[in-house]
Amino acid sequence: MGRLQDKVAIVTGAARGIGRAVTRAFAAEGAAVYAVDVIEDDLAEVVAALDAEGLVASPLVADIAVPDDVERIAAHAIEAAGRIDCLANVAGIITYEPIEEMSLAEWDRILGVNLRGTFMCARAVVPTMKRQRSGSIINVSSRAGAMGFADMTAYCAAKFGVEGLSRALALELAPFGIAVNTITPGTPVHTAMSEVTYTPDKRKIWQDPAVITPAFVHLACQSAEGLNDQYVNAWDLTKQLQAQGAGAKQ
Ligand SMILES: NC(=O)c1ccc[n+]([C@@H]2O[C@H](COP(=O)([O-])OP(=O)(O)OC[C@H]3O[C@@H](n4cnc5c(N)ncnc54)[C@H](O)[C@@H]3O)[C@@H](O)[C@H]2O)c1
Repeated sequence: MGRLQDKVAIVTGAARGIGRAVTRAFAAEGAAVYAVDVIEDDLAEVVAALDAEGLVASPLVADIAVPDDVERIAAHAIEAAGRIDCLANVAGIITYEPIEEMSLAEWDRILGVNLRGTFMCARAVVPTMKRQRSGSIINVSSRAGAMGFADMTAYCAAKFGVEGLSRALALELAPFGIAVNTITPGTPVHTAMSEVTYTPDKRKIWQDPAVITPAFVHLACQSAEGLNDQYVNAWDLTKQLQAQGAGAKQ
Protein backbone atom coordinates (compact mmCIF):
# COMPACT_ATOMS: atom_id res chain seq x y z
CA MET A 1 0.00 0.00 0.00
CA GLY A 2 1.31 3.41 -0.98
CA ARG A 3 1.26 6.24 1.52
CA LEU A 4 -1.36 8.06 -0.56
CA GLN A 5 -3.57 5.05 -1.30
CA ASP A 6 -7.24 6.10 -1.63
CA LYS A 7 -6.27 9.78 -1.55
CA VAL A 8 -7.25 12.25 -4.24
CA ALA A 9 -4.74 14.96 -5.18
CA ILE A 10 -4.71 17.94 -7.52
CA VAL A 11 -1.26 19.02 -8.71
CA THR A 12 -0.91 22.24 -10.71
CA GLY A 13 2.06 22.88 -12.98
CA ALA A 14 2.11 19.14 -13.63
CA ALA A 15 3.48 19.22 -17.17
CA ARG A 16 7.04 20.20 -16.27
CA GLY A 17 9.68 20.43 -13.60
CA ILE A 18 8.73 20.11 -9.96
CA GLY A 19 5.01 19.64 -10.67
CA ARG A 20 5.74 16.79 -13.05
CA ALA A 21 7.94 15.09 -10.45
CA VAL A 22 5.31 15.60 -7.74
CA THR A 23 2.62 14.16 -10.00
CA ARG A 24 4.72 11.04 -10.53
CA ALA A 25 5.53 10.70 -6.82
CA PHE A 26 1.87 11.06 -5.78
CA ALA A 27 0.74 8.52 -8.41
CA ALA A 28 3.49 6.11 -7.35
CA GLU A 29 2.21 6.37 -3.76
CA GLY A 30 -1.27 5.35 -4.90
CA ALA A 31 -3.08 8.68 -5.12
CA ALA A 32 -5.67 9.44 -7.79
CA VAL A 33 -3.93 12.47 -9.26
CA TYR A 34 -5.54 15.25 -11.28
CA ALA A 35 -2.62 16.75 -13.20
CA VAL A 36 -3.26 20.37 -14.19
CA ASP A 37 -1.32 22.51 -16.66
CA VAL A 38 -1.75 24.99 -19.50
CA ILE A 39 0.62 23.11 -21.83
CA GLU A 40 -1.55 20.41 -23.34
CA ASP A 41 1.18 18.52 -25.27
CA ASP A 42 3.59 18.26 -22.35
CA LEU A 43 0.77 17.22 -20.04
CA ALA A 44 -0.26 14.45 -22.43
CA GLU A 45 3.37 13.33 -22.54
CA VAL A 46 3.55 13.21 -18.72
CA VAL A 47 0.43 11.07 -18.53
CA ALA A 48 1.69 8.75 -21.30
CA ALA A 49 5.06 8.35 -19.52
CA LEU A 50 3.27 7.47 -16.28
CA ASP A 51 1.04 5.03 -18.13
CA ALA A 52 4.14 3.31 -19.54
CA GLU A 53 5.29 2.80 -15.93
CA GLY A 54 1.89 1.41 -14.88
CA LEU A 55 0.98 4.65 -13.08
CA VAL A 56 -2.14 6.75 -13.58
CA ALA A 57 -2.87 10.48 -13.60
CA SER A 58 -5.81 12.33 -15.14
CA PRO A 59 -4.81 15.33 -17.25
CA LEU A 60 -6.76 18.56 -16.90
CA VAL A 61 -5.75 21.34 -19.28
CA ALA A 62 -6.44 24.58 -17.45
CA ASP A 63 -5.00 28.00 -16.74
CA ILE A 64 -4.93 28.59 -12.99
CA ALA A 65 -5.06 32.35 -13.60
CA VAL A 66 -8.56 31.94 -15.08
CA PRO A 67 -11.37 31.68 -12.51
CA ASP A 68 -13.63 29.44 -14.63
CA ASP A 69 -10.75 27.04 -15.31
CA VAL A 70 -10.01 26.72 -11.60
CA GLU A 71 -13.64 26.04 -10.73
CA ARG A 72 -13.75 23.43 -13.52
CA ILE A 73 -10.69 21.60 -12.10
CA ALA A 74 -12.19 21.33 -8.62
CA ALA A 75 -15.65 20.40 -9.92
CA HIS A 76 -14.17 17.69 -12.13
CA ALA A 77 -12.17 16.12 -9.29
CA ILE A 78 -15.12 16.20 -6.91
CA GLU A 79 -17.52 14.74 -9.49
CA ALA A 80 -15.09 12.01 -10.56
CA ALA A 81 -13.53 11.11 -7.21
CA GLY A 82 -15.95 12.47 -4.62
CA ARG A 83 -13.24 14.08 -2.48
CA ILE A 84 -10.03 16.10 -2.53
CA ASP A 85 -7.34 15.20 -0.02
CA CYS A 86 -4.44 17.24 -1.29
CA LEU A 87 -3.88 20.33 -3.39
CA ALA A 88 -0.28 20.94 -4.48
CA ASN A 89 -0.07 24.45 -5.92
CA VAL A 90 3.13 24.08 -7.93
CA ALA A 91 2.42 26.11 -11.10
CA GLY A 92 4.51 29.25 -11.25
CA ILE A 93 6.13 31.74 -13.59
CA ILE A 94 9.01 34.19 -13.23
CA THR A 95 10.29 37.34 -14.85
CA TYR A 96 13.35 39.54 -14.38
CA GLU A 97 12.80 43.21 -14.99
CA PRO A 98 13.86 46.49 -13.41
CA ILE A 99 10.76 48.04 -11.88
CA GLU A 100 10.58 50.99 -14.29
CA GLU A 101 10.43 48.56 -17.21
CA MET A 102 7.74 46.35 -15.77
CA SER A 103 4.35 46.97 -17.31
CA LEU A 104 1.19 46.64 -15.29
CA ALA A 105 0.20 43.77 -17.57
CA GLU A 106 3.40 41.88 -16.69
CA TRP A 107 3.00 42.59 -12.96
CA ASP A 108 -0.58 41.32 -13.15
CA ARG A 109 0.51 38.21 -15.10
CA ILE A 110 3.14 37.21 -12.52
CA LEU A 111 0.86 37.91 -9.54
CA GLY A 112 -2.09 36.39 -11.43
CA VAL A 113 -0.51 32.96 -11.68
CA ASN A 114 1.73 32.79 -8.61
CA LEU A 115 -0.50 34.45 -6.03
CA ARG A 116 -4.04 34.88 -7.33
CA GLY A 117 -3.92 31.43 -8.95
CA THR A 118 -2.74 29.86 -5.70
CA PHE A 119 -5.54 31.65 -3.84
CA MET A 120 -8.19 30.58 -6.38
CA CYS A 121 -7.12 26.92 -6.35
CA ALA A 122 -7.19 26.86 -2.54
CA ARG A 123 -10.58 28.58 -2.47
CA ALA A 124 -11.97 26.00 -4.91
CA VAL A 125 -10.98 22.96 -2.81
CA VAL A 126 -11.60 24.30 0.69
CA PRO A 127 -15.39 23.67 0.84
CA THR A 128 -14.78 19.98 0.04
CA MET A 129 -11.89 19.68 2.51
CA LYS A 130 -13.99 21.38 5.20
CA ARG A 131 -16.83 18.91 4.63
CA GLN A 132 -14.35 16.05 4.92
CA ARG A 133 -12.72 17.75 7.92
CA SER A 134 -9.36 16.79 6.44
CA GLY A 135 -6.95 17.82 3.73
CA SER A 136 -3.53 19.17 2.98
CA ILE A 137 -2.69 22.25 0.93
CA ILE A 138 0.92 22.59 -0.24
CA ASN A 139 1.85 25.96 -1.72
CA VAL A 140 5.17 26.10 -3.52
CA SER A 141 7.09 29.13 -2.40
CA SER A 142 10.74 30.00 -2.92
CA ARG A 143 13.68 31.68 -1.23
CA ALA A 144 12.07 34.67 -2.97
CA GLY A 145 9.22 34.23 -0.46
CA ALA A 146 11.62 34.93 2.40
CA MET A 147 14.11 37.45 1.00
CA GLY A 148 14.37 39.97 -1.82
CA PHE A 149 16.17 39.51 -5.13
CA ALA A 150 17.04 42.40 -7.47
CA ASP A 151 14.92 42.72 -10.63
CA MET A 152 12.38 40.23 -9.27
CA THR A 153 9.88 42.57 -7.62
CA ALA A 154 6.78 40.86 -8.99
CA TYR A 155 8.00 37.31 -8.32
CA CYS A 156 9.15 38.21 -4.79
CA ALA A 157 5.91 40.07 -4.08
CA ALA A 158 3.95 37.04 -5.28
CA LYS A 159 5.94 34.52 -3.25
CA PHE A 160 5.87 36.72 -0.10
CA GLY A 161 2.14 36.90 -0.80
CA VAL A 162 1.93 33.11 -0.98
CA GLU A 163 3.60 33.01 2.45
CA GLY A 164 1.07 35.46 3.92
CA LEU A 165 -1.86 33.70 2.27
CA SER A 166 -0.65 30.37 3.61
CA ARG A 167 -0.03 31.57 7.20
CA ALA A 168 -3.53 33.08 7.36
CA LEU A 169 -5.14 30.05 5.71
CA ALA A 170 -3.39 27.62 8.07
CA LEU A 171 -5.01 29.40 11.04
CA GLU A 172 -8.38 29.59 9.31
CA LEU A 173 -8.43 25.90 8.35
CA ALA A 174 -6.83 24.31 11.43
CA PRO A 175 -10.22 23.94 13.19
CA PHE A 176 -11.29 21.79 10.22
CA GLY A 177 -8.26 19.52 10.42
CA ILE A 178 -6.72 20.90 7.22
CA ALA A 179 -2.95 21.47 6.98
CA VAL A 180 -1.50 24.37 4.98
CA ASN A 181 2.24 24.57 4.37
CA THR A 182 4.61 26.31 2.00
CA ILE A 183 7.61 24.57 0.52
CA THR A 184 10.80 25.71 -1.16
CA PRO A 185 13.09 23.31 -3.04
CA GLY A 186 16.10 23.93 -0.77
CA THR A 187 18.51 22.57 -3.38
CA PRO A 188 19.09 23.45 -7.03
CA VAL A 189 16.73 21.46 -9.24
CA HIS A 190 16.84 21.25 -13.02
CA THR A 191 13.58 22.53 -14.51
CA ALA A 192 12.47 24.74 -17.38
CA MET A 193 12.36 27.65 -14.93
CA SER A 194 15.85 27.05 -13.57
CA GLU A 195 17.20 26.76 -17.14
CA VAL A 196 16.46 30.50 -17.21
CA THR A 197 17.18 31.51 -13.63
CA TYR A 198 20.25 29.61 -12.47
CA THR A 199 23.84 30.84 -12.48
CA PRO A 200 26.54 28.58 -13.99
CA ASP A 201 27.62 27.55 -10.46
CA LYS A 202 24.14 26.28 -9.61
CA ARG A 203 23.88 24.43 -12.94
CA LYS A 204 26.86 22.34 -11.92
CA ILE A 205 25.01 20.92 -8.92
CA TRP A 206 21.37 20.91 -9.99
CA GLN A 207 19.50 17.64 -9.58
CA ASP A 208 16.35 16.10 -10.97
CA PRO A 209 13.32 17.49 -9.09
CA ALA A 210 12.41 13.90 -8.13
CA VAL A 211 14.99 14.21 -5.33
CA ILE A 212 12.71 16.53 -3.35
CA THR A 213 9.40 14.74 -3.88
CA PRO A 214 9.54 12.72 -0.61
CA ALA A 215 8.96 16.05 1.17
CA PHE A 216 5.84 16.68 -0.94
CA VAL A 217 4.49 13.18 -0.22
CA HIS A 218 5.09 13.75 3.50
CA LEU A 219 3.22 17.06 3.41
CA ALA A 220 0.36 15.48 1.44
CA CYS A 221 -0.14 13.07 4.37
CA GLN A 222 -0.44 15.86 6.96
CA SER A 223 -3.44 17.14 8.87
CA ALA A 224 -3.69 20.30 10.97
CA GLU A 225 -2.46 18.32 13.98
CA GLY A 226 0.69 17.21 12.13
CA LEU A 227 3.28 19.30 10.31
CA ASN A 228 1.31 22.48 9.71
CA ASP A 229 1.73 26.23 9.07
CA GLN A 230 5.42 25.84 8.18
CA TYR A 231 7.82 27.13 5.50
CA VAL A 232 9.35 23.78 4.62
CA ASN A 233 12.76 23.27 3.02
CA ALA A 234 12.07 20.27 0.76
CA TRP A 235 15.68 19.12 0.59
CA ASP A 236 16.17 19.27 4.37
CA LEU A 237 12.88 17.49 5.05
CA THR A 238 13.68 14.82 2.46
CA LYS A 239 17.07 14.12 4.04
CA GLN A 240 15.45 14.03 7.50
CA LEU A 241 12.82 11.54 6.30
CA GLN A 242 15.48 9.39 4.64
CA ALA A 243 17.59 9.39 7.83
CA GLN A 244 14.52 8.36 9.85
CA GLY A 245 13.78 5.59 7.33
CA ALA A 246 17.36 4.35 7.49
CA GLY A 247 17.24 4.50 11.31
CA ALA A 248 13.99 2.54 11.42
CA LYS A 249 15.51 -0.22 9.25
CA GLN A 250 18.52 -0.72 11.57
N1 LIG B 1 13.13 25.77 -10.25
C1 LIG B 1 13.50 26.36 -9.13
O1 LIG B 1 14.70 26.42 -8.82
C2 LIG B 1 12.49 26.91 -8.19
C3 LIG B 1 12.96 27.51 -7.01
C4 LIG B 1 12.04 28.01 -6.10
C5 LIG B 1 10.70 27.92 -6.37
N2 LIG B 1 10.26 27.38 -7.53
C6 LIG B 1 8.83 27.30 -7.75
O2 LIG B 1 8.50 25.96 -8.05
C7 LIG B 1 7.34 25.93 -8.86
C8 LIG B 1 7.59 25.06 -10.08
O3 LIG B 1 8.68 25.60 -10.77
P1 LIG B 1 9.52 24.77 -11.85
O4 LIG B 1 10.93 25.12 -11.63
O5 LIG B 1 9.10 23.37 -11.85
O6 LIG B 1 9.05 25.54 -13.16
P2 LIG B 1 8.69 24.98 -14.63
O7 LIG B 1 8.65 26.20 -15.48
O8 LIG B 1 9.61 23.90 -14.99
O9 LIG B 1 7.23 24.39 -14.44
C9 LIG B 1 6.13 25.21 -14.13
C10 LIG B 1 4.88 24.58 -14.68
O10 LIG B 1 3.77 25.42 -14.33
C11 LIG B 1 2.94 25.52 -15.48
N3 LIG B 1 2.15 26.74 -15.46
C12 LIG B 1 2.61 28.01 -15.57
N4 LIG B 1 1.59 28.86 -15.58
C13 LIG B 1 0.45 28.13 -15.45
C14 LIG B 1 -0.92 28.46 -15.41
N5 LIG B 1 -1.34 29.71 -15.50
N6 LIG B 1 -1.81 27.45 -15.25
C15 LIG B 1 -1.40 26.16 -15.17
N7 LIG B 1 -0.13 25.80 -15.24
C16 LIG B 1 0.80 26.78 -15.37
C17 LIG B 1 3.91 25.51 -16.65
O11 LIG B 1 3.26 25.21 -17.87
C18 LIG B 1 4.90 24.46 -16.21
O12 LIG B 1 4.49 23.17 -16.61
C19 LIG B 1 7.01 27.38 -9.20
O13 LIG B 1 6.00 27.84 -8.33
C20 LIG B 1 8.32 28.10 -8.92
O14 LIG B 1 8.10 29.44 -8.60
C21 LIG B 1 11.13 26.86 -8.45
